Amino acid sequence: MSLPSKFPKTFKFATATAAYQIEGATRLDGRGISTWDEIRAEPGRIHDNSPADLSCEGRLKYKEDVDLLARIGVTSYRFSISWSRILPDGTLSKINEDGVQFYRDLCLLLRDNGIEPIVTLFHFDMPLAIYDNGTSWLNRENCDHFAAFANLCFERFGDLVKTWITFNEINMHAWSSVVKIEGELWLCPDRPQVENHSHAPYIAATNMLLTHAKIYQDYNKNFKEQQNGVVGITMGGRFCFPASDSSEDIAAANRANDWLFNYTIEPILSESGDFPVSMREKLPFLPKFSEEEKKLIRDSADFIGINYYLSHMVRNISDGEVPTSQHERDASYAFVEGKWDKICGETWVRYAPDGLHELLKYVKQKYNNIPVFITENGCMDLIGDDEKKEEEDVLEDKHRIKYIAGHLEALAKALEEGCNVIGYTVWTLMDNFEWDDGFAVKFGICRVDFDSPDKTRTMKHSAKYYQTFIREFKKHHNIL
Ligand code: BGC
Repeated sequence: MSLPSKFPKTFKFATATAAYQIEGATRLDGRGISTWDEIRAEPGRIHDNSPADLSCEGRLKYKEDVDLLARIGVTSYRFSISWSRILPDGTLSKINEDGVQFYRDLCLLLRDNGIEPIVTLFHFDMPLAIYDNGTSWLNRENCDHFAAFANLCFERFGDLVKTWITFNEINMHAWSSVVKIEGELWLCPDRPQVENHSHAPYIAATNMLLTHAKIYQDYNKNFKEQQNGVVGITMGGRFCFPASDSSEDIAAANRANDWLFNYTIEPILSESGDFPVSMREKLPFLPKFSEEEKKLIRDSADFIGINYYLSHMVRNISDGEVPTSQHERDASYAFVEGKWDKICGETWVRYAPDGLHELLKYVKQKYNNIPVFITENGCMDLIGDDEKKEEEDVLEDKHRIKYIAGHLEALAKALEEGCNVIGYTVWTLMDNFEWDDGFAVKFGICRVDFDSPDKTRTMKHSAKYYQTFIREFKKHHNIL
């Protein structure tokens, strides 16, 4: 049986983007300033020193982009709604109808093309005005602001959008961005509110979880009956394997899985409605959920999204050893280089489809086989030799085809073994703003010519591979 025919008829094949990474047009529609506009304006902050107004111009070129999606043939498109474009100052005090209209137009066009929208509500950026008022994920006020935004989105787009994701990579955002962006490196108006800065990721995760749960319950109470959609949450997923058979390394790998993955799932999907036991044991300051909060959080997801890029090998640490990152220190483990192929050169991505397979089996067993949507998976262009590359060489991204095909194979295997995987998403539709790395790191299956006036998009070979794959899948199931 060919690989595409191993996927059930209802399986969703998607690609994705995020508002801040593609939209540009930061002053259009009365959009408010977002936190990332401010970060980019900071001299030297973005590694490639790209101009602050450089973008894919996705806001203006959305018709062309939907056409591109239709040509690739995806069943679904995951994108995020920019909070700042809908609520310029972050609150309901001013609703930006032009911004609302833009996302409605996008959804309508997707519908006309038979493509299902999958909408993320928080993909790393938020209105600066909220921030300037002293609110961030480090305090609970943000719950109310964000929940109000989410409810507004349900109200305005719920007739067209049936799959919602509250947070993108809630766990990773708590680990990296909160500390990095809201702490050490960047403005953090509420930093003094956190007694000990190393507590920040745990406080942020708690607040984001509570916010997610509130939004989930709001949807069920006020919109579900009429709109009949589903609400999930996306985790950054990676599987931590023990570096040896020793019981110490096995225990260290279990802790690493708790800190990097279970951290923000267990409260939602476990009986206890709480953080993993290992975290409770090691972190006396870990915020406590009240019984009422546990009730709110428990079972607050119809599916979970997993963004998967790599896995890790983990060992126990010796006495007195101080690992580099906070989660390694807090949980007493250290990463060791694994056996995996550095498929895009010296970067953080690893070609580890076996880790995805392991992770899916783990979720099936630990979390009662909840539906899982792979909401991101992809790799960057080969790093190192791209300056002098000819156009044709950039487009010929064999390594990315290998990466995508390998992960699709892992999914097919997991499906065969009864894992409840409902969809797969390639990150990303086109080369775009890769956060701290600017435009130097390119994850797109379509190339964007940033020097051309209209930011021309061209399919790389991986986009054509995905197109053929989906075409065969549809043919096999007689999907028109
Ligand atoms: C994020 C994307 C990002 C990708 C590659 C994911 O963690 O959700 O926004 O572009 O990683 O770094």
